[in-house]
Amino acid sequence: MLKSSLIAAVFAMGASGASYAKTCQLTIDGNDAMQFSTKELTIDSDCKNVSLTLKHTGKLPAAAMGHNWVLTKSADMQAVVAAGIKAGLASNYVPKGDAKVIAATKLVGGGQSDTVTFSVEKLQQGGDYAFFCSFPGHSAMMSGKFVIKKPAA
Ligand code: CU
Repeated sequence: MLKSSLIAAVFAMGASGASYAKTCQLTIDGNDAMQFSTKELTIDSDCKNVSLTLKHTGKLPAAAMGHNWVLTKSADMQAVVAAGIKAGLASNYVPKGDAKVIAATKLVGGGQSDTVTFSVEKLQQGGDYAFFCSFPGHSAMMSGKFVIKKPAA
């Protein structure tokens, strides 16, 4: 009797935890000086999804000073930058169907913004991830670390 009610209680806790998917909000700006507003974005370990909004605070059009926000493992960044240049403007400088791309916004020009929502459940807490703009020539200045905190010990 006691044992079965304990199992029921544990099961109920597990079920309610699984149905709660926390979405964490992030924002970042890009400007006409080819800069992001931050070099590091950090999320808590309990985030299941991330909703990131990129805002272009400048005035130049996307064809001249477009920005996007692309997330990869740090080790994959250069390969995705190169593939993005080949993909071209029509593909927002992001290679289509490339598994190395964890998330990407579209390319925005001055005054525009875009939001991408993605799951971080399969990413590694404390792992080495990079975000960058894949517009040709921008990633050297426009890149940073994407940090998923480890749960408190
Ligand atoms: Cu850019």
